Amino acid sequence: MELTQNLKIELFKKACDMLNFSYTPYSNFKVGAALLCQDGKIFGGCNIENAAYGPSNCAERTAFFKAVSEGHLKFDAIMIVGGPEGNIKDYCPPCGVCRQVMMEFCNPDTFKILLAKSENDIVEYTLKELLPLGFGNADLQK
Ligand code: THU
Repeated sequence: MELTQNLKIELFKKACDMLNFSYTPYSNFKVGAALLCQDGKIFGGCNIENAAYGPSNCAERTAFFKAVSEGHLKFDAIMIVGGPEGNIKDYCPPCGVCRQVMMEFCNPDTFKILLAKSENDIVEYTLKELLPLGFGNADLQK
């Protein structure tokens, strides 16, 4: 899917909608994600925390696992927004674990990670830029 400005704004709005479902009784830091599949379908995700802390899941992984569990395996981009109490004050970059999950399913040269402060302030990185020399399936074959 070509990442037009309109599509980026659609992804931004979907990611913001997901902030409403973010379950964060511990950090109160809410994150929303919108994952764009190559066929155009968009999966939303939010972070889901846990009293035992460790089992908490980030918004990005929620979106990926929703998509993969429904048979979607090819992705073009993910939009991520977040902030304290769901107020977006700055870009919300993905954690290292989520970058590694992206590495499993996405081409690091082409998969786009979109971070936004507003629909008029969106920055774009490739996965390779945020995870240089990432370890993936191909490395296991060497
Ligand atoms: N979090 C995400 O969901 N995605 C990110 O990119 C960064 C962090 C969540 C995890 C935790 O629920 C809260 O934000 C504070 O770390």
